[in-house]
Amino acid sequence: MNDVIDVMLAHRSIRTYTDEVVPDVDIKAAVAAGQKASTSSNIQTYSLVHVTDSAKREAFIEISGGQEKVRDCGAFFVVCGDMRRHRLLAERCGSNCEENVESFLLSVIDASLFAQNMALAFESMGWGTCFIGGIRNDLNAVQALLDLPQSVAPLFGMTVGRAAEEPWPRPRFPVDTIIHENGVVADDDVLGQCDAYDELMKGYYLQRGASGRTWCGQMERFFEQPKRPHLLAFFESTGVRWR
Ligand SMILES: Cc1cc2nc3c(=O)[nH]c(=O)nc-3n(C[C@H](O)[C@H](O)[C@H](O)COP(=O)(O)O)c2cc1C
Repeated sequence: MNDVIDVMLAHRSIRTYTDEVVPDVDIKAAVAAGQKASTSSNIQTYSLVHVTDSAKREAFIEISGGQEKVRDCGAFFVVCGDMRRHRLLAERCGSNCEENVESFLLSVIDASLFAQNMALAFESMGWGTCFIGGIRNDLNAVQALLDLPQSVAPLFGMTVGRAAEEPWPRPRFPVDTIIHENGVVADDDVLGQCDAYDELMKGYYLQRGASGRTWCGQMERFFEQPKRPHLLAFFESTGVRWR
């Protein structure tokens, strides 16, 4: 359709990299492009930590549950929600900086839009990327490792580098499953759409040598237990109050 959409549609997460380092000029271009994402009221509540220290990169393997790509990729980043500028500005003028559910959502949304724009920019330059939610296994360890101050909250990592694999793109739901007109469809239709997606995914799983697997089967119990319940206390420790 056009070059931008072609890059977006060609996306697949890359988990195996060559040892090629991502040059600073490409990093700066991708970050600048990331920053052009829309940001609520121009608050820009995010920071990006480029982790270049090899001992820290090694430590991130254990934090993220054994994901060696955080060491082996060409560049590794931690995306943070960052309310510190706003807190410091408020303190400087004797005001308050209320970090509540809304400010938390704003910083997570802004940081995510920034990060996805940045990932897309890297992919447009021929680099592979993978988001790393695994760092949320232990955000206290991330905070200590990167010496992060109050109001700076690590959210997820991102590996970038030259692909050493050519994975099949993972199919998404058909567009009509996602678009709704003036409301959303009934529960029965939702379940029918999920079953239809399983049919679509059969070829993908077959190609990956997991022919019995289904998306519905994986999702049925995906949220059976609360995920990472320690996060509530962590984000409170960075200054968020859930009010
Ligand atoms: C916030 C976020 C966190 C993720 N965390 C991980 C991760 O820790 N490890 C990993 O290998 N992939 C991770 N992924 C990649 C997803 O598994 C991947 O995007 C999804 O399965 C769809 O596949 P695709 O990106 O190849 O289309 C993450 C993606 C997102 C958006």
